[in-house]
Amino acid sequence: MKTFKYLVVCVFATLTLMNCGGKEEKKKEGFTYEKVAYPEGKADLKEAENNSGNIVITSNDLMQFNTKEIKAKAGKKVKLTLRHVGKLDINVMGHNVVILKQGVDLLEFSAKAAVERENKYIPKNSQDIIAHTDLIGGGQVTSIEFDVPEAGIYDFLCSFPGHSGLMKGKFIVE
Ligand code: CO
Repeated sequence: MKTFKYLVVCVFATLTLMNCGGKEEKKKEGFTYEKVAYPEGKADLKEAENNSGNIVITSNDLMQFNTKEIKAKAGKKVKLTLRHVGKLDINVMGHNVVILKQGVDLLEFSAKAAVERENKYIPKNSQDIIAHTDLIGGGQVTSIEFDVPEAGIYDFLCSFPGHSGLMKGKFIVE
């Protein structure tokens, strides 16, 4: 009887181990697992994150970007992805990334943008902007592609009213 119990435990343990091993394998191969983690529409983001030539910025419900500095090489095309990992609605905690031309005052631009609610806080026909993403809310992702300007240091910000005090940084072109 003792031997029988021992055998049962052994077989059970072996099966469990094999099962675990199988799952592990799948994760490492990356197919099923990755597709679940990055559903339709977010596959782009995964791609962006894997490609070091692209820029990925994360934003949250605490009115923060995850970085104060982004970099790119002059004269190349770059893809910039903005991801909002929060839960708050676009009308409460909307975020975008606006890269300003050199010489444009961030505070002045921010004040002009704040009244452009119907235009997602981007002043119409603005000559102050190099590139900007769409405005997004919690759980959303957006990407743009643009030509990197000449070498130098540029300001970037979120133009949602009241955000640029915290949500700003430098775009460094080398
Ligand atoms: Co914002």
